[in-house]
Amino acid sequence: MKAVAAPAWYRDAIIYQLHVKTFADANGDGLGDFDGLIERLPYLSRLGVTCVWLLPFYVSPLRDDGYDVAHYERVDPRYGSLKSFSRFVDAAHAAGIRVIVDLVLNHTSDQHPWFQASRRAPAGSAKRNFYVWSATDTKYAGARVIFRDFESSNWTWDSTADAFYWHRFFHHQPDLNFDNPHVVRAMLKVVQFWLDRGVDGFRLDAAAHVFEREGTNCENLPETHAFLKRLRSDIDGRYRDRILLAEANQAGDARPYFGDGDECHMAFHFPLMPRLFLALEQERAAPIVDIIARTAEVPAGCQWALFLRNHDELTLSAVTADEREVLLNAYAPDPRMRLNKGIRRRLAPLMGNDRARLDLAHALLLALPGTPVLYYGDEIGMGDNVALGDREGLRTPMQWSDAANGGFSRAAQDRLVSPLIDDDEFGYPTVNVERQFRDEGSLLNRIVRLVAVRRRHAVFGRGTTEFLLTDNPRVLAFVRRCEDEAIVVVANLARTNQSVTLAWPEEVRHQPLVDLIGATAPSTLDADQQTELAPFACHWFCLEQVARRALAVATDGHAALS
Ligand code: BGC
Repeated sequence: MKAVAAPAWYRDAIIYQLHVKTFADANGDGLGDFDGLIERLPYLSRLGVTCVWLLPFYVSPLRDDGYDVAHYERVDPRYGSLKSFSRFVDAAHAAGIRVIVDLVLNHTSDQHPWFQASRRAPAGSAKRNFYVWSATDTKYAGARVIFRDFESSNWTWDSTADAFYWHRFFHHQPDLNFDNPHVVRAMLKVVQFWLDRGVDGFRLDAAAHVFEREGTNCENLPETHAFLKRLRSDIDGRYRDRILLAEANQAGDARPYFGDGDECHMAFHFPLMPRLFLALEQERAAPIVDIIARTAEVPAGCQWALFLRNHDELTLSAVTADEREVLLNAYAPDPRMRLNKGIRRRLAPLMGNDRARLDLAHALLLALPGTPVLYYGDEIGMGDNVALGDREGLRTPMQWSDAANGGFSRAAQDRLVSPLIDDDEFGYPTVNVERQFRDEGSLLNRIVRLVAVRRRHAVFGRGTTEFLLTDNPRVLAFVRRCEDEAIVVVANLARTNQSVTLAWPEEVRHQPLVDLIGATAPSTLDADQQTELAPFACHWFCLEQVARRALAVATDGHAALS
């Protein structure tokens, strides 16, 4: 179906990140598949998702869960076929849901035919130069080892080639050589292949690492930006409304990935994420205020992607050593919860499975400036399994119901791609979609409501942000504004009741307000009046008439964002 024209649709989007492998298994072989995903599209619609981000589903030996691609233009047959992929894209579009896919451009699997050809090709040939080879393992010494719990060097010896090859991640993931124009052309072809199949964009995996230069840390290089600009103009020249979302510079400022509005449309805001956890741990608004204040304006039409958790460890690259210490002690007391420079846990366990804290975390995710990205399963508060290696413990099958295998698959338990979470607290008999839909007060229903409200108010995706002065450091208060709309967000980051006096913006003072996400009846708020806040409470205050108008438009059916 034709996508509805919506300029910069990604700014209003609710993105939901999922792995086909662990979402829903239709053919009963123990692994999720595209047919299963199609069957679950009504769930995503009910949740209010407007865009799905698919983790890699390409042919792969799965030694890095698909981030080790062995064929870019083939669907792993365990998940389906190109036909079932296209059926999924059509069905998603028909449901008003866009689809972005992971593009693992920095590296391939060592099983990829390009690498197999490269290691056998004569030194110096174009084929050999598809990857980065060297006679020594001493070049680019300024580049850190990212998977430091698994690898000790970015070089690995290959006896077939009689040379070392470069890899920023696992040793079985050789880096492509983007200095070779054949590689650039090959990747642009891959991009075109998927765009021709209707995808709405790409999450650019490890985008910061595609080039390497002596004397640098081989990250965020000018050559990388030049390549991304070329990619963007290539796409813009042939397609409409397709986007690039950069996974880049986890250690710092990703603003350069927007270029002058001519590079990526979106980039993950890595520095904000750990500071949300820090703010919740320390019960202080300052870490959030500081990082947003330090975040440079993005060019018109660009947007940050905000997230609480994803499929990787919660990276602590973007905080100071002291902050890291605080976060590790608070959120990963058991050493098995730590991985590389981060924490391999899901959101609900990180929040101590505390409903009020989980509600607050989501209310902030959905109100801060950017587009929210939800990680599958977090909307029902799924747990993790530290007994599984690497990041597998946070990638267990989706828990649909209390039926066998949590309704994920009808395969015998020993054939499942990964064991389901089945402990008392987080196991599928307790934590599942079916049960939570039945319970009016569940986390899932709460998130459905938050998402619905957010979608009614363009200000969340498009508006400006101004922090409000308060007399209580445990209270975060900001106003989102656009056109004639202003929403004041007030959040208590503490586990205890707090009262606060805050500098209400002029346009809402002495006026009837509603809390868009609370049960509070309309009230009139005064600048000098104290506001009482329950532990971890979050309110989205808005003028009553604005709320009524937005609701009327939505009920009329015109507010659905596409
Ligand atoms: C992905 C990881 C993956 C790595 C190597 C990352 O940025 O998010 O899951 O292991 O790239 O591809």
